[in-house]
Amino acid sequence: MKVLVTYVSQTGNTRKVAQAIFDQVEGGRELKELPQVQALDGYDLAFVGFPIQAYAPAKPAADFLQKHAAGRNIALFITHASPEDSPELPGWLDSCRAAAAGARLAGVFHCQGELSEQVADFMTKSKDEKLIAWAKDRPSTIGQPDAARLERARQWARGVLAKVR
Ligand SMILES: Cc1cc2nc3c(=O)[nH]c(=O)nc-3n(C[C@H](O)[C@H](O)[C@H](O)COP(=O)(O)O)c2cc1C
Repeated sequence: MKVLVTYVSQTGNTRKVAQAIFDQVEGGRELKELPQVQALDGYDLAFVGFPIQAYAPAKPAADFLQKHAAGRNIALFITHASPEDSPELPGWLDSCRAAAAGARLAGVFHCQGELSEQVADFMTKSKDEKLIAWAKDRPSTIGQPDAARLERARQWARGVLAKVR
């Protein structure tokens, strides 16, 4: 089985999850940043990871999925600064699934990722009250994804691999 782990990661959180997933793959495997991937031909399974940006999947990932996911075995892994029990998350995750419409969706993993200082500064300076409130919550995100979340990602990846194999 040939497995691709590919991701978009602006500040490194999704990359950490990508590496944790990649470590679980035995045999034919590749780890690539999404812009390096031209198509999914030849892969039996692609793990595609990205952050939530502006309440939706990061645009390069959404565009990629809309173009290439149909008919493929795809597993999505997603990071976001909001806590995992945020009431907004189910809707955002639905839009991630919608971007992969037509794919054989083997699983969806998501976890909190640190809101970087630079992004928080940008949010603080914006006039958007919601973004300003998020920036204030930055301390609660520091260090995410932590060891427990990365372990959860590994377990999830093993389950996906067992299902698709
Ligand atoms: C432009 C921008 C918009 C963001 N919008 C959201 C959002 O709508 N909801 C959320 O929970 N996190 C949001 N975040 C935070 C990121 O999703 C989070 O920090 C993620 O773990 C970053 O992953 P990365 O380090 O792989 O880029 C946003 C970050 C950026 C840079």
